Amino acid sequence: IKILATEKKLSGMKLLITAGPTWEPIDPVRIISNRSSGKMGYELAKVATRMGAKVTLISGPSCLKPPYFVEEFVKVKSSDQMYEEVVKRFDKADAVIMAAAVADYKPSFVSTEKIKKGSDTLVLTLEKTKDILSELGKRKGKRILVGFAVETSNLEEYAKTKLVSKNLDMIVANDVSAMGSEKNLVVIFKSDGTSKRVGPDDKENIAFAILDELSLFWNRS
Ligand code: CTP
Ligand code: CA
Repeated sequence: IKILATEKKLSGMKLLITAGPTWEPIDPVRIISNRSSGKMGYELAKVATRMGAKVTLISGPSCLKPPYFVEEFVKVKSSDQMYEEVVKRFDKADAVIMAAAVADYKPSFVSTEKIKKGSDTLVLTLEKTKDILSELGKRKGKRILVGFAVETSNLEEYAKTKLVSKNLDMIVANDVSAMGSEKNLVVIFKSDGTSKRVGPDDKENIAFAILDELSLFWNRS
């Protein structure tokens, strides 16, 4: 029923979706990463395709099956690679959903050799990665931008701050407990000041709700 009701709402939209974690290399065998499974982004890609969007899915390392239904599927590892692949396709996109859990910091130096076990403590120097979504926000134009926010406290305050600072139309805030799990509970904050709670529900239904909100921006433009 839901599929019929929402079918074609995103008809003609060129939609860029990112998913999954990033891997920031330390040495040839080690990485810094996070608990993201990629599930939310992959569900968004699937449902958006059903709703008529032409989807490009850019995914960090994930165990999920590559979706056969999207227009284009791009696999990346590091935040630098994700930045490159997203920016490359931004001009032609009508909307972007950054569901990826992009690392905030990466090792300043990547050792070409495996680091050997030595002293009792090891200090790694990290530096900030590029904030992909902030960068897109600066060149937004008429595009619709959607971010995600994972918070452990002050969810509303932090999410709203990100909505403004990254120049977004919508931000989907979820509690950290949803990361890597099957179900999700989110609050969608929109640039018009309204918000909507969705869930707890499986990620497919959450994806429907998010894309339904997205379609309101699409119809108006
Ligand atoms: N994001 C991004 N590039 C980064 C970090 C985050 O594009 N280097 C995007 C995420 O994909 C998400 C949004 O920014 O859509 C918010 O990510 P989040 O981690 O919640 O916020 P940060 O701005 O990184 O701030 P913090 O982690 O300190 O809360
Ligand atoms: Ca972050």
